[in-house]
Amino acid sequence: MIEIKNLTKRYKNITAVNCVNLNIEEGKIFTFLGENGAGKSTLISMICGLTSITDGEIKIFGEKVYKGAESVKKYVSVVPQQTSVCLNLNVRQNLEFICEIYGYGKELKKQKVQKIMEELTLTEYEKTPAKKLSGGCLKRLSIGMSVISEPKILVLDEPTANLDVRARKELWEVIKGLKKIGTTVIYTTHYMDEAEELSDAIAVMSRGKLLFTGSVSDIKKVTEKGTLEDAYLKITEGL
Ligand SMILES: Nc1ncnc2c1ncn2[C@@H]1O[C@H](COP(=O)(O)OP(=O)(O)OP(=O)(O)O)[C@@H](O)[C@H]1O
Ligand SMILES: [Mg+2]
Repeated sequence: MIEIKNLTKRYKNITAVNCVNLNIEEGKIFTFLGENGAGKSTLISMICGLTSITDGEIKIFGEKVYKGAESVKKYVSVVPQQTSVCLNLNVRQNLEFICEIYGYGKELKKQKVQKIMEELTLTEYEKTPAKKLSGGCLKRLSIGMSVISEPKILVLDEPTANLDVRARKELWEVIKGLKKIGTTVIYTTHYMDEAEELSDAIAVMSRGKLLFTGSVSDIKKVTEKGTLEDAYLKITEGL
């Protein structure tokens, strides 16, 4: 569904993404792993049409992706590393704001906001200003705002960073729920337990290059390791 060919992104003297070839299947959870600066955010930002491509190409459902492309906006919604929530508005107002951007009528807006608040367990915080929410709630609101339009593809950059154990596990359930309704989820994490629990496929990046892509069991087999963490350490060893 997403085809990536010889994808390269160069900043002045840095090659952030270096000739990556990759296919991402529809309806699956696809996880990018890699050290700080490996190029994960740059790559997913190109998939979202937020960053220009230096070389190579990305196609989503056969349509070419470039910065600002309308084709991408049709399919992809993004939960950025830094939140997109308006801190002075409360939970309901933030969700309503997104509905208004999409031009939903009064009744549809009401239904959508109710449904999203229930699904993301935000109902009790309906009137809480976003600036007073905990990190976990804020992240759930941010995801709610991104999925209200029911995108085919949801891209999340480190959605579980800095969350406590319970909040992190709650987000795992949210991500699994999205997959259940057919959403393709593309995300990044530094947590190996999480990647092991959620991913249908992973990509390991280092210094802009793709070192491995396949399932968690594939990477364990190739490296002859029992856990994803050990397999990851072996694949990225000595680089
Ligand atoms: N706008 C930019 N201008 C110049 N260099 C950039 C820019 N954005 C990213 N880079 C560089 O590109 C490389 C890849 O960065 P990127 O943010 O994609 O890494 P990452 O894998 O997401 O890391 P992290 O795990 O820390 O989020 C880094 O060397 C970074 O400094
Ligand atoms: Mg990043």
